[in-house]
Amino acid sequence: MRPTDHDTDDFAALRRLAEQRWTCRQFRPDEVDRATIEQVLSLTQRTPSWCNTQPWQVVVTSGEGTDRLRKELLAYIQTHGTAPDFEFPAQYAGVYRDRRRACGFQLYDSVGIAKGDHEKTMRQMVRNFEFFDAPHVAIVTSEEDLGVYGAVDCGLWLENFLLGAQALGLGAAPQAALASYAPFLREYFGLPDHRKVVFGVSFGYPDLDHPVNAFRTARAPLADQITWHTS
Ligand SMILES: Cc1cc2nc3c(=O)[nH]c(=O)nc-3n(C[C@H](O)[C@H](O)[C@H](O)COP(=O)(O)O)c2cc1C
Repeated sequence: MRPTDHDTDDFAALRRLAEQRWTCRQFRPDEVDRATIEQVLSLTQRTPSWCNTQPWQVVVTSGEGTDRLRKELLAYIQTHGTAPDFEFPAQYAGVYRDRRRACGFQLYDSVGIAKGDHEKTMRQMVRNFEFFDAPHVAIVTSEEDLGVYGAVDCGLWLENFLLGAQALGLGAAPQAALASYAPFLREYFGLPDHRKVVFGVSFGYPDLDHPVNAFRTARAPLADQITWHTS
């Protein structure tokens, strides 16, 4: 996206954040102080939602809280199957398959995983449940009654969180993978059954020297996504 004559300072700042943000998959161990995390969370509270329901409830871990969750989740996934609250995609076909493969290859290339190396591919997948070594993870739930629109509202919350984190020099990784084990997370955090896990977000300071953080994904041109109807 190029600057245009119509850029305002606000738009330029937003564009810069949107362009520079990426999914961080390797974090430094240093914790983020509570005031900085709350700064991002205060921004995300401005997220719009249908009827202003603000359905997101967020559990944030720090320090030993993250380490214990990581340990127990890793143990759980050895012996339990996946059980997401929201149906995962039925399939990726056509252009969706192509885009998914393209970003998958970028990820695997970045860390030297050859096509067909199932063992290393699996190991990289498990990195999700190690939170990519992040010192913090946020688990985001919505209210069952609000259905798909509650999840939409949480998605809006997510983008504000990601951009807010980026603006403060933090890195973040949105992770539907964590929602695969929704029953574990509900029990672990003592959440009632009507709270449904939408995703997790690992966050902290990015390890900018790690190759997994060096690639950037592409986006389709506007013409592929937008239909103008003018008469
Ligand atoms: C709702 C959502 C769930 C995602 N789940 C995962 C995940 O489980 N694991 C992962 O490594 N990346 C996950 N991602 C990151 C996407 O792969 C990434 O956003 C996409 O490839 C575009 O790349 P970028 O974020 O670097 O621009 C998720 C992103 C979103 C928005």
